[in-house]
Amino acid sequence: MIVCYLKSEVKNELKANIANKDIIGLVPTMGSLHKGHLSLMKTAVENCNQVWVSIFINPTQFNNESDLKNYPKNFKKDISLIESVSKKIKVFCPEINEMYEKGLNYNQYNFNGIDSKLEGKYRKGHFNGVATIVSKLFELFKPNQAFFGEKDFQQTQIVKRLIDLEKHKTKLIICPTVREKNGLAMSSRNNLLSQKNRENSSIIFHNLNYVKTHFKKTDFDQIISKCIKSINSYDGFKTEYFEIVDSFSLSKQKKYCENKSYRVFVSVMVDEVRLIDNILLN
Ligand code: PAF
Repeated sequence: MIVCYLKSEVKNELKANIANKDIIGLVPTMGSLHKGHLSLMKTAVENCNQVWVSIFINPTQFNNESDLKNYPKNFKKDISLIESVSKKIKVFCPEINEMYEKGLNYNQYNFNGIDSKLEGKYRKGHFNGVATIVSKLFELFKPNQAFFGEKDFQQTQIVKRLIDLEKHKTKLIICPTVREKNGLAMSSRNNLLSQKNRENSSIIFHNLNYVKTHFKKTDFDQIISKCIKSINSYDGFKTEYFEIVDSFSLSKQKKYCENKSYRVFVSVMVDEVRLIDNILLN
């Protein structure tokens, strides 16, 4: 398996393949891979003839030092998981200086307000940090296709806008959220949960589905306060936000109107671990 640590190594690898007109697929990750990432890789392998996985814990998207420090790392396991999908996948895992030669600065983008909602309210600068690293990766790989998970739906909309703003020729592929048996969305952070909290976290998906069943006939405020109460009833669970929003603008909605598309988003602090999830309602 090819593992590159330097941008120059990646460029050499890519040069060798340009002649074949390979379709380049990129799966950007921060490592600590799980089944959600593996499903992105499988889709990439099915659709592209050269697939790259980047593993880089991007400091500029963390607004909380302890979150960055505690972010799970498991490089050896990551490599063997990637190999389990395909030994042909190539890996890029740069050091921080390789991606941020001039210091840890991020670009300021105009995301048309998408970045100030939901996650943006709780993680100042987060999406500028995400877009900065994705932009650097797109510049390097010039991927034909890039694969992101629906669990981070707001992030996918940021990447979509980034592609428009910077005119990247990359097609954004959004892959469905992969869930544990109890409905908990796969996330690298799940490994930080105690066994009990991991089991109890099924309440999150349960409530998203409750919204899906009731949102057409019940006032949104009423549904939401019921869901927040249900989630917060577990020891150590504290809902940060629970919002029904317009699927495109991600702005908060009050009641159901026909011909509109809605999504429900949630973020819950489970002891020290922050879990997010969302589903499409219609
Ligand atoms: O979703 C992630 O893991 C990260 O936000 C990403 C897209 C790899 C950028 O660092």
